Amino acid sequence: MTNILHISSSIRSAGSISRELSDELVSKMQAANGASKVVLRDLTANPVPHLSEQMMGAFFTPAENRSPEQASTVKLSDTLVDEVLAADVIVIAAPMYNFSVSSTLKAWIDHVARVGRTFQYGANGPEGLVKGKKVIIFTARGGVYSTGPAKVMDFHETYLRAVLGFLGITDVNFVHSEGLAMGEEAVNTALAGSRSAINELIAA
Ligand SMILES: Cc1cc2nc3c(=O)[nH]c(=O)nc-3n(C[C@H](O)[C@H](O)[C@H](O)COP(=O)(O)O)c2cc1C
Repeated sequence: MTNILHISSSIRSAGSISRELSDELVSKMQAANGASKVVLRDLTANPVPHLSEQMMGAFFTPAENRSPEQASTVKLSDTLVDEVLAADVIVIAAPMYNFSVSSTLKAWIDHVARVGRTFQYGANGPEGLVKGKKVIIFTARGGVYSTGPAKVMDFHETYLRAVLGFLGITDVNFVHSEGLAMGEEAVNTALAGSRSAINELIAA
């Protein structure tokens, strides 16, 4: 059985390109492999809380000494980490907001980047503990950042590659839908390219 973790983070419930394309890939993966199990985390419908001083205190308090509130905080974060560790494939819908990821996706990352669970530091520096995952990321962007003058302003792919790599995840595939604010022709070209990438991923 293939376990798929699907993370969605567009603020749009309708008309979102990253939702549409990531839904399409997950449906096609399910159709190709009937035994797959999907966990959906819609970070817009159900945002995870931003980290706070109280939460950090809860993480570093031994389990037996935690208050009920601290135990509940750690439980949510543990569940999010468990979902990552249980997944074979992680599909992330990541619209570009102000040159990087949405704040809801960043809040989720802050929960799953957990020392001792998804990374650790040793004598040789940091070591990612999340191994053997395939990640597919659907970006959606008004402008074009994969080539051209705005490439230096891409803190989106660069950030996601860095943080996932830090956790040990290196099989990361980007499907960029770009130029979505640049007219109908650009949108059609972007969607056709992304759909063809989906078919290639399914065929592989
Ligand atoms: C708050 C906000 C910030 C945005 N910032 C950028 C940006 O920095 N660069 C860009 O190219 N597009 C930007 N956009 C456009 C979105 O990336 C684009 O509309 C994309 O299609 C959104 O993803 P979605 O279709 O899945 O909702 C922004 C949109 C919003 C709502």
